[in-house]
Amino acid sequence: MPVVVEKASAVTPEIVDAFGLLIPQLSSSNPPPTADQLADIISSEASVLFLARVDGRIVGSLTLATFRIPTGVRAWIEDVVVDGEARGHGVGEALNKAALAEAQSRGAITVELTSRPSREAANRLYQRLGFVVRDTNVYRYTL
Ligand SMILES: CC(C)(COP(=O)(O)OP(=O)(O)OC[C@H]1O[C@@H](n2cnc3c(N)ncnc32)[C@H](O)[C@@H]1OP(=O)(O)O)[C@@H](O)C(=O)NCCC(=O)NCCS
Repeated sequence: MPVVVEKASAVTPEIVDAFGLLIPQLSSSNPPPTADQLADIISSEASVLFLARVDGRIVGSLTLATFRIPTGVRAWIEDVVVDGEARGHGVGEALNKAALAEAQSRGAITVELTSRPSREAANRLYQRLGFVVRDTNVYRYTL
């Protein structure tokens, strides 16, 4: 299944519709982004919105965030999701590889992500790609 990964450069109704389909498959607690919110992601220098297409249809997405901190350039992979009908054919792998290449080109030495252990397919994919579990505590403060 040929997968084409692209960086979104402008919001279109097609992209808004695709997120309407994809986000419920990633999160039951967060609504899909609006066109304005997608425009914020696309226009920000700190983020890249990757889209994966199969036969021209958007079947997956990943957002890469990069930013400079005193010790270097940090990179985070977030909101990785592939449509249920397109899973198991390397779409997730293609999205992650595109994000890793982009992070490298932006000067990042490492790329971070988190994934709940219950997300078995995701954890297998990340480990197969070479991500290793960090020996650190991940904290969250809820505002
Ligand atoms: C995780 C996810 C993005 C992977 O996308 P994908 O396009 O299926 O990824 P790949 O095809 O590149 O690899 C997926 C791996 O899981 C397996 N897999 C995932 N879903 C599968 C399915 N429905 N049927 C069969 N195998 C599946 C694949 O076999 C592969 O593992 P392997 O090659 O080591 O055997 C996708 O399953 C997804 O969107 N899940 C729900 C949201 C989620 O968990 N996101 C990650 C948040 S951290």
